[in-house]
Amino acid sequence: MPPVMSITRTYAFCAAHRLHTEQLPDDVNQTIFGKCNNPNGHGHNYTIQVTVQGELDTKTGLITDVNRLDQIVQDLIVTRFDHQHLNFDPAFQALTTTGENLASVIWDLLVDRIPSGRLEKIGVVETRDNFFEFVGDQKSAIL
Ligand code: NI
Repeated sequence: MPPVMSITRTYAFCAAHRLHTEQLPDDVNQTIFGKCNNPNGHGHNYTIQVTVQGELDTKTGLITDVNRLDQIVQDLIVTRFDHQHLNFDPAFQALTTTGENLASVIWDLLVDRIPSGRLEKIGVVETRDNFFEFVGDQKSAIL
C-alpha cells in the first residue's frame, strides 16, 4: 500500500467584515464582539491553509494535482472573497463572519472539489493572534 500523506497549500486574500448578528440586540452584539462590532467594519489580510490528504502516487511522488488545486482555490475562494465585504457574501447571510464560520464556509466550498485525495483540514489565519482550524465531514457540500 502506498503511504498516505498530506500537503498544505497556502493562499491569501484581503477582505472586510463586521462581527454582528441580527439574532441579538445591538448592545449584546457590542458586548460580545467589542470593537469588531464597529458599524463601519474593518479588514484583514487573511491567509488560508488548505490541507489535502491522499495516497502517494509512486510514479510521480505526488498525492494531488497542485496546479489544479491552486486553480480551484483561486476560482472558488480567492476570487470570491478578495477585496470584498464578507458580510455581503451569500454564504454569510445567516452566519456571522467569524474566523470559525469562514473556515467552515471554505470547507463546504472545497470539500467536493479536490482534484485527487480528500480535503483534510482548513486553516484560517485572521490576525497574528487568531488562527482557526476546521475539519468537516466529507458529505456533499451544502453551499
Ligand atoms: Ni475582524
